[in-house]
Amino acid sequence: MRRVSLDNIQSGVILAKTVMTLEGRVLLASGTVLTEEYKKKLIANGITEIYIEDEISKGIHIPEVVREEIVTEAKRKIKLMMTNPSIKTSIDGQQVMEIVDSIITSLLSDKDIVANLSDIRSVDDYTFSHSVNVCILSLIIGIGFGYSIDQLKELGVGSILHDIGKVMIPGEILKKPVQLNNKEFEEIKKHTVYGYELLKKNKGITTLASYISLEHHERMDGSGYPHKLKGDDINKAARIVAVSDVYDALTTDRVYRKKLMSHEVIDYITALGSHHFDQEVVDVFIRFIAYYPVGMGVILNTGERGIVKEYNKKYPVRPVVRVVADAAGNMLSKQKDVDLSSELKYRIVEIWDV
Ligand SMILES: [Fe+2]
Repeated sequence: MRRVSLDNIQSGVILAKTVMTLEGRVLLASGTVLTEEYKKKLIANGITEIYIEDEISKGIHIPEVVREEIVTEAKRKIKLMMTNPSIKTSIDGQQVMEIVDSIITSLLSDKDIVANLSDIRSVDDYTFSHSVNVCILSLIIGIGFGYSIDQLKELGVGSILHDIGKVMIPGEILKKPVQLNNKEFEEIKKHTVYGYELLKKNKGITTLASYISLEHHERMDGSGYPHKLKGDDINKAARIVAVSDVYDALTTDRVYRKKLMSHEVIDYITALGSHHFDQEVVDVFIRFIAYYPVGMGVILNTGERGIVKEYNKKYPVRPVVRVVADAAGNMLSKQKDVDLSSELKYRIVEIWDV
């Protein structure tokens, strides 16, 4: 199985995973042969990528860090919650806790957590998908820090609600398909304070969650907002959410910008390191996020092309690659697996848009 962009794919390929809307409606079932008609249907629903099963990706298993049905259900519930007008006055803390609990249970049942960025989402569902992804990524960092279940629960609730203040921002600014002007950006920035105020008055939600909402855009060097806090003045949990928020936002297609690849975002976050982010958080984060996700096409220094087959936890930049084409781009009749962690003459030099 591999993940492909709909722009690059011809009709006739076979879908390897069912594509669903957040309302639980099946758009296309797994096993369906993709036609031009179906392609149009996916695009009309804001879907830009799919999973396919083909000769070169046969037997490659894309790991799920949290069970897919749990993620979909969480997104559906968060969407229902955030689109209900009553959210502006009260939040059902119990329901949020149930969503977070199911994510924590699923994460902890996986002995070898590595987030593989295996999530396909509709561009229209950005806010809800983003909330759930930031929660998952933040919890992974929390697990990396050895947090207790109670600490994880607090972090989970705060991270899933980190952008809740956006419900108070006018829709025409939030959904604007182009870059915002200064005045609009100043308005967007207020989602931190709005979120803080909203969460603070809800009894079922801990104070930590309101601080995560308030401080997740603060940066270690004081360049963030709303209060230009620096270093240790920023809550640790908000420093965790800052990293997962930026990672998820940049790896997602937005109307006004194309997404970046996982390794590009990891490089970006690492480069900004202690200026923007908590170095300790960044160090834990990069241990648990796949640099080259399984299923991605890559070009080796030999010119050969392949697909990432397995992640090497000890050497994130040196996964196992299934070589499927030679340097001239001819498909091989016999594919070979190369473990880059032991075959040191090979390295990945580029991404291959298969
Ligand atoms: Fe935010």
